[in-house]
Amino acid sequence: MVIIDTVAGMKEYVAAIKARKETIGFVPTMGYLHEGHLDLMRLAKKLADHTITSIFVNPTQFGVNEDLDKYPRDMEGDKKRSESVGVECIFAPTAKEMYPRGYATYINLEGITNTLCGISRPTHFRGVATVVVKLFNIVEPDFAIFGEKDFQQLLVIKRMVKDLNMKVQVVGHPIVRESDGLAMSSRNKYLSPEERKKALILNKSLKHARELFKDGLKDTLKLKDVISQMIASVQGCVIDYVEVIDAEDLSPIKTIKDKALIALAVKVGTTRLIDNTVLGEQLRL
Ligand code: PAF
Repeated sequence: MVIIDTVAGMKEYVAAIKARKETIGFVPTMGYLHEGHLDLMRLAKKLADHTITSIFVNPTQFGVNEDLDKYPRDMEGDKKRSESVGVECIFAPTAKEMYPRGYATYINLEGITNTLCGISRPTHFRGVATVVVKLFNIVEPDFAIFGEKDFQQLLVIKRMVKDLNMKVQVVGHPIVRESDGLAMSSRNKYLSPEERKKALILNKSLKHARELFKDGLKDTLKLKDVISQMIASVQGCVIDYVEVIDAEDLSPIKTIKDKALIALAVKVGTTRLIDNTVLGEQLRL
């Protein structure tokens, strides 16, 4: 497996693959890889001739008071983990390589970024969209795989790829959970054992809402209330948002017809966790 840290080096690596008319499956990450990331890589491997991942803790997607400096990093472990699932190349640039002196171009999406995480993290999706476009331009993937835990991120990237007429096929992968139901996330590392237990309320409340929906509850306000009350009853859990909205464009809905997204962001202690489920789709909790 090769590790490349320059844009020029990566472009050269990609050019050789393209010259052979072979395809690239790409998994962009911020590292500290867990089983969820590895599943994305496994899928990339199935879809394309070559699997490339990027490990880059992208500063532009972190707000001023967020966890950029303490974001967990483990390059040595990440190399081993990605190699174990067949990744052939890791692109691991520095922030200076990606945003050299004088850097001035950012990608902004309207509408879809003004809700859910976009409210409490107003510059987040601008940073995500910018880095993802840059990575796509450097890696030129045929397929790019993203986890559905960041459901809004996946929609933002799909929208952007469509709007900018990009060639890459964006593929979503279902949330990967721990055996007790907690959605896998690099940020779970911040949780103390006690907080880790409290964090299970996210998945439990989603499961409960699915049951209520199955039993006929279609009113989004009522569903939102039940979930909010469950979460708020756990000491130390502070809701950022609970929304039951359209799963295609994240617009508000009053009554669910056949499908809706429940999306949650909750602070457990000082750690902000997100989770979601799509009602009307097969259970993935
Ligand atoms: O989901 C992530 O890990 C990041 O937001 C991404 C897509 C790698 C962009 O930095």
